[in-house]
Amino acid sequence: MTELLHADDAGIARAAALLRRGGLVAFGTETVYGLGADATNAQAVAAIFEAKGRPRFNPLICHYPDAGAAFAHVVANDWARRLADALWPGPLTLVLPRLADCPVALLTGAGLDTLAVRVPASATALGLLRGVGRPVAAPSANRSGRISPTEAAHVLAELEGRIEAVVDSGPCPVGVESTVLDLSGVEPVLLRPGGVTVEDIEALIGPGVRRGAPDGAMRSPGLLASHYAPELPVRMNAEAVQPDEALLAFGPPLSGTRPVFNLSESGSLTEAAVRLFAGLRWLDAEAARCGLTRIAAMPVPEHGLGLAINDRLRRAASPKISPALCVGQVGEERAG
Ligand code: TXA
Ligand code: MG
Repeated sequence: MTELLHADDAGIARAAALLRRGGLVAFGTETVYGLGADATNAQAVAAIFEAKGRPRFNPLICHYPDAGAAFAHVVANDWARRLADALWPGPLTLVLPRLADCPVALLTGAGLDTLAVRVPASATALGLLRGVGRPVAAPSANRSGRISPTEAAHVLAELEGRIEAVVDSGPCPVGVESTVLDLSGVEPVLLRPGGVTVEDIEALIGPGVRRGAPDGAMRSPGLLASHYAPELPVRMNAEAVQPDEALLAFGPPLSGTRPVFNLSESGSLTEAAVRLFAGLRWLDAEAARCGLTRIAAMPVPEHGLGLAINDRLRRAASPKISPALCVGQVGEERAG
């Protein structure tokens, strides 16, 4: 059963407690309702993808109660500080490089070296974020492929029984998602238009904000300054391991002595999702150290979170395709 909570002190305290223990709680922001989870808890974040029925791991936005908390986890530059001063709390999300000791789970950012951070302008959301005391990852609270919810009833219609609770703070005043601005490269790039206009942004940091492709086409990975660059090609559905390969195992591993990272010895897709990005990073480094040039990935079932895991592995199946491509789901994301 999904609890319907009032946006009063008791409801917010209850929601914060559920989030702190790894639960999923939808809450209203000024833009749309978000499906929240503790961003530092990969297990909870995996549950977001499960509840949404999302076939891929999109990087999620981390929500904070103030700029100080947000900028403790990312490298904030001058642009970021100026925009945060003027526009936070508000419908603007900033993509910035993660700090080395950033406690946010890799799964939250889909393995990227950058993190999207935002301070929502909603008393309920801010109260909840203060109560949780940790960043809250929250995509729009709809099933994958559906439009974003702007009322608690919309959330329940799609996610009733799949999440712990929804905090009803009434209809969302803005009604469209936050603007996503990438400040991690040499020039600011608008990744998703939203509640704050480019004109507002340029008035604060000067002209020269590059507009992402109007169709939401993918950003060229080469343009991203800080994406997770080195990555060996992955050979999927491996039934044996070649001499030049490290192994990404799922279930009982294929035999041979080589670097092996097991996503889940027991064959749990949730555990595999939690370990996927850390595993790819580890294998990359280990394989390079051992002079290997590829990663053989054992078959992962094509259902539930397995869809998103296989999507990510497919993207790694060619060395030219980078995880930065998952950033490009912007156009699709507006509808989903
Ligand atoms: O208004 C909003 O932003 C709502 C409310 C709940 O805050 N949230 C929302 O989240 O729309 P979501 O997950 O539906 O959209 C996140 C967007 C996606 O387009 C994603 O690709 C982009 O932000 N994004 C997140 N992290 C990113 C990163 N590290 N680099 C580039 N884009 C990123
Ligand atoms: Mg969405």
